[in-house]
Amino acid sequence: MGVSAVPQVNPAGYDRIQRQLIPGYSSLARLGVALLAASPLASAPGSEVLVAGCGTGGELLEAVAQRPDWHLTALDPSADMLAEAQHRLEGQGHVSWRQSTVEALAEDQASTARFGGALSVLVLQSLPDDGRKLAFLSALAASLQPGAQLVLVDLMQASLPSLEQQVSTAWLGFQRASGLQAPEAELAPLTQGLHPIGLARLTSLVNAAGFGDPARIFQALGFEGFLLQRRN
Ligand SMILES: C[S@@+](CC[C@H](N)C(=O)[O-])C[C@H]1O[C@@H](n2cnc3c(N)ncnc32)[C@H](O)[C@@H]1O
Repeated sequence: MGVSAVPQVNPAGYDRIQRQLIPGYSSLARLGVALLAASPLASAPGSEVLVAGCGTGGELLEAVAQRPDWHLTALDPSADMLAEAQHRLEGQGHVSWRQSTVEALAEDQASTARFGGALSVLVLQSLPDDGRKLAFLSALAASLQPGAQLVLVDLMQASLPSLEQQVSTAWLGFQRASGLQAPEAELAPLTQGLHPIGLARLTSLVNAAGFGDPARIFQALGFEGFLLQRRN
């Protein structure tokens, strides 16, 4: 997927909107980093860690706070999101910045099997399941060392079809109760054109990409966090 084809998210007000939109958003980065810091390879001092789709830098700030020894690669195809993340991280941690998709990173030999861990928070959900989800996951697997883990957080389909309506009504209720008010142009890239899949489909995609079965480690309404381990 070329950089120009990526849906544009406006970095202004992004974090406020996400906190009001996504249940538990304030804890996602903290949880994800804590899990990766306890993983078999990324627990080692000075590990190389990939933040795929770093957006405005929430996971990076948390990673620098919890693991100042990590060597982070912050990757996002959006120049605006990267600029905001760079501004927030200024002078902190060991961070290499890269304007790229994960798929393009995988074409770079120097990145093959390089990372001891990776985070992908709210990225896979925006890709259609027409080969693009598999390409994204395969690229992540290829960039990880065998045995390394990926923390994947994404919007998922409800586990029971009979729950779908209730969960989406509850999500709207959550947004109202959080006081969410944002122009449609800012909300649309975050709420429309998403492509959530169910657990069975995710399992088959991650297995095909080179990971073991996904282990769910948290859930808030439709947002679920998984640990995936690259096969040896
Ligand atoms: C909803 S934002 C999530 C940002 C951040 N991870 C967070 O949780 O706040 C999704 C980000 O993924 C980026 N993105 C979209 N497609 C991508 C791809 N193929 N590879 C890497 N990043 C991608 C977008 O530019 C955007 O910044």
